[in-house]
Amino acid sequence: MVKLNRRQFIILSTAGAGVAVVSNWLSQKTIFSEPLPLSRSSATITPLHQSSDGLLELDLEARESLVELSGKQAYLLTYNGQIPAPRLEAKSGDKVRIHFANNLSQPTNIHYHGLHIPITGNADNVFLKIEPGKKLTYEFQIPSNHPSGTFWYHPHLHGLVAEQLFGGLAGLFIVRGELDEIPEIKAAKEEFLVLQDFSLDEGGRRFSSAHMSLMMGREGDVITVNGKVNPIIKLPTNGLLRLRILNASPSRFYRLALEDSSFYQIATDGHSLNEPIEVNELLLTPGQRADILVKGDKRSGQYRLLNLPYDRGSMGMMGGGMMGGRGMMDRNNRDTPIVLATVNYESSVESLALPTKITSISALPETQIIRRFELNHGMSPTVGMAFLINGEPYSSDRLHTQVQLNTVEDWVISNTGVMDHPFHIHGNAFQVISRNGIPESLLAWRDTVLVGRGETVRLRIPFRDFAGKTVYHCHILDHEDLGMMGNLMIDA
Ligand code: C2O
Ligand code: CU
Ligand code: CU
Repeated sequence: MVKLNRRQFIILSTAGAGVAVVSNWLSQKTIFSEPLPLSRSSATITPLHQSSDGLLELDLEARESLVELSGKQAYLLTYNGQIPAPRLEAKSGDKVRIHFANNLSQPTNIHYHGLHIPITGNADNVFLKIEPGKKLTYEFQIPSNHPSGTFWYHPHLHGLVAEQLFGGLAGLFIVRGELDEIPEIKAAKEEFLVLQDFSLDEGGRRFSSAHMSLMMGREGDVITVNGKVNPIIKLPTNGLLRLRILNASPSRFYRLALEDSSFYQIATDGHSLNEPIEVNELLLTPGQRADILVKGDKRSGQYRLLNLPYDRGSMGMMGGGMMGGRGMMDRNNRDTPIVLATVNYESSVESLALPTKITSISALPETQIIRRFELNHGMSPTVGMAFLINGEPYSSDRLHTQVQLNTVEDWVISNTGVMDHPFHIHGNAFQVISRNGIPESLLAWRDTVLVGRGETVRLRIPFRDFAGKTVYHCHILDHEDLGMMGNLMIDA
């Protein structure tokens, strides 16, 4: 693989969008108005529940808790009092039993984002409603051929999803397996990065939804990695770091770059790539995950993991008067990079080799079944703007899309609106076939894909193993709550 020096890095980066900004942050350190807050705490998160003898069993309680968020007290919504929620780890074939108690003041439920498990019963069923004070035991088996990768869990009760996720309710669900056994990857030091943002008043209390710009999708000005502001990630002495990153923010996009360095992506969402791909930046929309390898063979020092500016569209032309909120514009980082974490290289080492081959993805066969979806806005008498799919807002008692189990379909998703929408489908992963008619060169499995404003993305989805009713939606969760969702019936 080619090593890049800073100069080449600038040239490569500027080949894409955001030219001015990228060269800006690399050349003018003064862009950061204050000196970097020194991070002292390590990024490593502790609480972990692992399966043993084929069973992952735990108690999980949703409640409001007073937690310490980077030195400040905050009243957040938590699973078991933790921000982020405990990391769950199982292997393919394992049984999972989660004794869940809802001690929130609102109803809730749990969605297992990206997992290919039953979508009915007490499994990945988003139509369950667990009232305050009530309990439910989630129980399912992870199929024995389930891919190993980075998945996650979060609440999914329509109308409250964004609010509860923004309160803090999100955690990793890791499926261990073949990806972890590749010798080069096994030798790398593994760290998990859960990206969350929060909006808190002086007293550490969350602002009510009424104060947020729900139309844009709420964003907070406290940006955390594993519940910490700018933590340290240490490069191991063997020089190879594996980062498993989750965007658990309801609306914020993360356009990640590591100062002075490229890195290697090895997985998209919960799925391995064929081989490592060298990238200079990585865009993670809400819901998406990525596994990357970072090599440590360069000068010792501190390198910042940055969130580069990204413009995900605006309501501007649709009437700014509807934008509630406190300075939402500033908090959609459109022009200033934000430091997320600091990677510490203590000494310069020759890093371990990267794997050459990871897996082999086969392209899905062509299909005759083509379905079209248009993501759009409309006017709504109650909330001002409606979020629609094919001209319709979500309605719980309608089946918007009906498919046959064991078929493959092409879904052509057009975004004719003024904002970007990351499109997510529950239960089955898909491959992106083309964007705006241009064939997609990267063969990869995903469960969430960005459909930018004005874009048309064509997906190919196999509906496998599990029949029943589930959903697809925009993963800017305010958009989902406002109606950009559809019911999907998979008929046996
Ligand atoms: Cu993470 Cu229906 O979503
Ligand atoms: Cu999901
Ligand atoms: Cu959206």
